Amino acid sequence: MEWFDYFITNKKRRRAIPWDEGVNVPPALRAVLVRSLQRFQLGESGDGSWLRRNAVGEPMEYRHALEFFIKEEQEHARLMACVLEKLNAPLLSWHWSDWGFSRVRRLLGLKLEVLVLLAAEMIAVRYFRALREGVDDAVVREVSAQIGHDEDGHLAFQVDYLRRAFARWPFLMRVAVCAVWRLMFRAACLLVWLDHGKLLRACGVSAEGFWWDCGLIFDEVSAGVFGGAAYPSLAGLRMPEFRWRTR
Ligand SMILES: [Fe+2]
Ligand SMILES: [Fe+2]
Repeated sequence: MEWFDYFITNKKRRRAIPWDEGVNVPPALRAVLVRSLQRFQLGESGDGSWLRRNAVGEPMEYRHALEFFIKEEQEHARLMACVLEKLNAPLLSWHWSDWGFSRVRRLLGLKLEVLVLLAAEMIAVRYFRALREGVDDAVVREVSAQIGHDEDGHLAFQVDYLRRAFARWPFLMRVAVCAVWRLMFRAACLLVWLDHGKLLRACGVSAEGFWWDCGLIFDEVSAGVFGGAAYPSLAGLRMPEFRWRTR
């Protein structure tokens, strides 16, 4: 199975979301949920143009799969926009976190863009798990479960690309890149906690729990990228073994 087959299959197997039930959360939680979701929604609503531009020299199969990946991210933005609509909350058009994230992503080529994207997706996996487990509402639970599942697939997709992209780099270079990436990831964890900590706390996640859980995800993913270990969900999701030339 190739990656685009995975994305096509995933598109056909979506969770049923009980939109008719509306979103019913206590008023105190509603305020923090809206504030946090608005920011995540904005972060997911890009058109993928920079990713496409950076991937111009990559094999056709990868670029094909990338289109499906971009569509899946846009679907996440749509799902979150629907939740916000049910909560009678507007969408954001600008936020400093989204602005900074998109600027850093554009600094260097595809490898850096995917490393930055992957850092955000690792945090998103923990964030949507918190919403799935901590918000007592069927719509929020199903949307979070769907996005969390898709993001797990995205981690494996990015790991697969980066593992090949870094395969020929000398060991010490890979160690150095991983160390810098870890610092960047930890800074992002801190910013996400400062920005979304109220909601995460309301979902039952402590600062310590968030910090160490994100660290565990990073350890697994970075071992997949730089150590060649298969990311655990690769086995669980029967991820395709996608072969393309490393540049
Ligand atoms: Fe997403
Ligand atoms: Fe993603």
